[in-house]
Amino acid sequence: MRYPEELIEEVRSRNDIVDLISTHVPLKKKGSSYFGNCPFHNEKTPSFSVSRDKQMYYCFGCGAGGNIFTFLMEYENYTFVEALEYLAQRSGVELPKQELTGKEKEEMDQKTLLRGMNKAAAGYFYFLLRNKRGERGMAYLKGRGLSEETMKKFGLGFADIYRDGLYQYLKSKGYKDSQMKDSGLVTIEERGAYDKFFNRVIFPIVDVNNRVIGFGGRVMGDGQPKYLNSKETLLFDKSRNLYGLNFARSSRKPYLIICEGYLDVISMHQAGLTNTVASLGTAFTSAHGLLLKRYTSEVILSYDSDEAGQKAALRAIPILKEAGLTVRVLNLAPYKDPDEFIKNLGASELEKRISEAVPSLMFELQVMALRYNQQDPESRTAFQHELAKKLAAIPEVLERNNYIEAAANQYFMSSKELSRLVDRYGTMIPFEKKKEEEPVLREQMKKEKEDAKKQPQKLLLTWFVNKPELIEKLSNYIGPEDFIEPFYHAVAILLYEQYEEEGKVSPAKIISQFPDAKDQAEAASLFNARLKVAPLPKDNEKVLTDIVRKVKGNSIEEEMNHSTDIVKWQELIQKKAELQKLHISL
Ligand code: UTP
Ligand code: MN
Repeated sequence: MRYPEELIEEVRSRNDIVDLISTHVPLKKKGSSYFGNCPFHNEKTPSFSVSRDKQMYYCFGCGAGGNIFTFLMEYENYTFVEALEYLAQRSGVELPKQELTGKEKEEMDQKTLLRGMNKAAAGYFYFLLRNKRGERGMAYLKGRGLSEETMKKFGLGFADIYRDGLYQYLKSKGYKDSQMKDSGLVTIEERGAYDKFFNRVIFPIVDVNNRVIGFGGRVMGDGQPKYLNSKETLLFDKSRNLYGLNFARSSRKPYLIICEGYLDVISMHQAGLTNTVASLGTAFTSAHGLLLKRYTSEVILSYDSDEAGQKAALRAIPILKEAGLTVRVLNLAPYKDPDEFIKNLGASELEKRISEAVPSLMFELQVMALRYNQQDPESRTAFQHELAKKLAAIPEVLERNNYIEAAANQYFMSSKELSRLVDRYGTMIPFEKKKEEEPVLREQMKKEKEDAKKQPQKLLLTWFVNKPELIEKLSNYIGPEDFIEPFYHAVAILLYEQYEEEGKVSPAKIISQFPDAKDQAEAASLFNARLKVAPLPKDNEKVLTDIVRKVKGNSIEEEMNHSTDIVKWQELIQKKAELQKLHISL
């Protein structure tokens, strides 16, 4: 499904970027731009700029940038379509209904129905908890140290002892048995209908857009099972949702904390650690990993400190790393879980533990060490060999050496001794190691060369945006084809087209042509490349001339690289020589 370009542009132009961003980030006017502290990285002096003329934002500190769509995609983690729909609604633009196939429509209706039922159920439980009938639930939750504000934030509720209270309620709302059958909320049998949840406190499970998709219910006190969870439905996929993510995703912390249980998450949030999530009574899956990767690049595992928790952490680590996340592991000892830890030592102590959380590899080594008796020489030797094997598998030399250092320290070995042992295991894979190191260097050199070509193209695009008349003025020398970097080329084509058709350029409009937030940010950075331009106009001309020579020169070289025609070659050499005579006056 794709909306037409004109409509995207209409939505974009009806929303002012300064208005929108200033509802999220305090901005101050400075010259023609607005400045504030960047919401995408930590900073104390504002380098985040928003321009009303360009309808763009750009951070000179971290390079984040784009138009109004990019902002919502990055800040709210919306998809492009979600950002579009949000802005359309905000500015009163009606989007056409997307055509659905019969099957899609049926699924849509089914989902809408389930959403309605879940929402009604959540309301019912919520009401009961705050009613006379919910007194026991309220007492239980208060006994667990939860404030009313916290209970409200998480929408906690209560299911009382009547076995069909919810069923009757949903019926009174007009839902039919056939509709309730697949909701996971009630069981419908010939003899009658029963609520799935009764005599429990209720934890509604919501998706990232705050819609109720299922429930967890806990017995008040001892009893089996301790927690009961909704079964999976069309709405509720346990491996694609995390408890607390609706809040954690906008916590703006550099990492997210993963713990095991509902109450861990709630206690953490109540203590101000709003960047905490938990999986929903299931093991951690790779879908969870990828979901987290959308919001952060680092996670802190804060599983229970018992053996089960440790095993769960060992299983989760490779999954998280596979998703591209950096993983650290928190030590909660002597307490069982984050909830208990906070009750006993408080949030600031927990923050301290977080800052001491160890890299996942160190945690894996710690668990391994426990399997050996360090007092027994034979067992200790076996451990040291295992340790060396594990360290030898770290591909990057510097990282490997750092780990050798850290492990030697921790396990009372000399780092020289450990290093030698690691080398012995390392030499068993000598070819792989060598192969790995050299390309890194070659890659880097290649990258530097490419950057040297990219920079002048980038600067020239910045000039064009700030002084569009240059596009025409330089048309004898430079055309969109001279931007040889593929991405810049795409941007240049759009820029030239715009200038030709409208006589002006609108960078924010160009940005929305790229559906991917990464591309949008790159386009924004293009239009904001820092100009090393002296204030004297005379020097400006020299700088610009120099940039044009480089861009054109590189473009000519590129053409020579792809041409085998000797006549063409001579032409190109001639052209290149002429470049030296070029002088641009502004
Ligand atoms: P725990 O047994 O560690 O419970 O299970 P908890 O979260 O610490 O809860 P309290 O503090 O004892 O009340 C961790 C998580 O595993 C799932 C739930 O999601 C729970 O929060 N679980 C546990 C179930 O789904 N079913 C169960 O019977 C037990
Ligand atoms: Mn627990």
